[in-house]
Amino acid sequence: MPEHNSTTELKTTTDQARLRLSSLENLDDLETWRLEVLGRHGLLTNLMKGIGDLPNEIRKEFGQIANQERANLENAYTNRLLELKNTPNDTSGVDVSLPGRLPVRGALHPITQVRRQILDVFTRLGFTTIEGPEVEADSYNFGKLRIPPDHPARDMWDTFWLDGSHLDEKILLRTHTSPMQIRYMESHPEPPIRIAVPGRCYRYEATDATHEWMLEQVELLVIDQGITLANLKGTLQEWARQMFGADRKIMMRHSYFPFVEPGVEVAIDCFDCDGSDRSCGICRGSGWLELLGAGMVHPEIIAEAGYDPDVYSGFAAGMGVERVAMVLQGVTDIRHYHDNRHPFLSQF
Ligand code: PHE
Repeated sequence: MPEHNSTTELKTTTDQARLRLSSLENLDDLETWRLEVLGRHGLLTNLMKGIGDLPNEIRKEFGQIANQERANLENAYTNRLLELKNTPNDTSGVDVSLPGRLPVRGALHPITQVRRQILDVFTRLGFTTIEGPEVEADSYNFGKLRIPPDHPARDMWDTFWLDGSHLDEKILLRTHTSPMQIRYMESHPEPPIRIAVPGRCYRYEATDATHEWMLEQVELLVIDQGITLANLKGTLQEWARQMFGADRKIMMRHSYFPFVEPGVEVAIDCFDCDGSDRSCGICRGSGWLELLGAGMVHPEIIAEAGYDPDVYSGFAAGMGVERVAMVLQGVTDIRHYHDNRHPFLSQF
């Protein structure tokens, strides 16, 4: 039986479609081809639409061929799809000899690094690290540290009060890590005590190059028989030697904190000007950078903890981690640390 015109037309159309398919170079063009040829309004569908007008004797044959062609084209389509997916569509502009792109490596935050360094030294000196709450009760942050309400010493710590109206007592974001001195003593019936307490503290203050409203501290507390100021000095001197090197000088001078007697302030010589620049923005011309407050634990606090102050004595210290980090890393503005800008952070 001679082929009917419409069967010939069908074959020509599908042959052309097949030819076009093999010349397609990318997935976008392939998708266009699929819609044009196999799609709901595509070529094959359109050809099939005319089937009702065909004479009876060729209608069946036409239908068979059309179905066969559709199956063939669908196969060819799937093969081409796999081919195109497995070959990069354009290698002409790619230099395959270039080194690969290195993934960006993360790192510990500079303050985390310094906190760990500080704690490493104290661990070697025999201290145990413990942590405490950032939301504190008024009595632990102030009262039990001999800072009663309305005492002028409260002015040393500007405070973020929290809504604690449902509680017996006012609560706040702790202004220092010293409350952990009390908490630890209350939960340990007998000395010796030798702890280091890292943690965040919050102060409601205007920020500048050396003051932030959030800071990290490491608190030290040692209670034992026969502890003197010499132990405090020796511990801090050894710590400073291991942190900053043997060349750096530390200075201890008298200061006041209600929970120690005597109280001291410890400073290190200025890394920026070595004390030679009267207008130095870091040490404000003094040549010294204050790193920490410290002193001998007040005998009343020792007694309050249930220890005999005639038998036991101790020292406490609280250092600012950011201050230490600034000295170690040569950073001149404390605000950089918590700005979280990548160009700064990625230097460490
Ligand atoms: N808590 C004091 C502060 O934040 C520092 C300090 C700790 C002083 C321990 C003496 C003893 O300023």
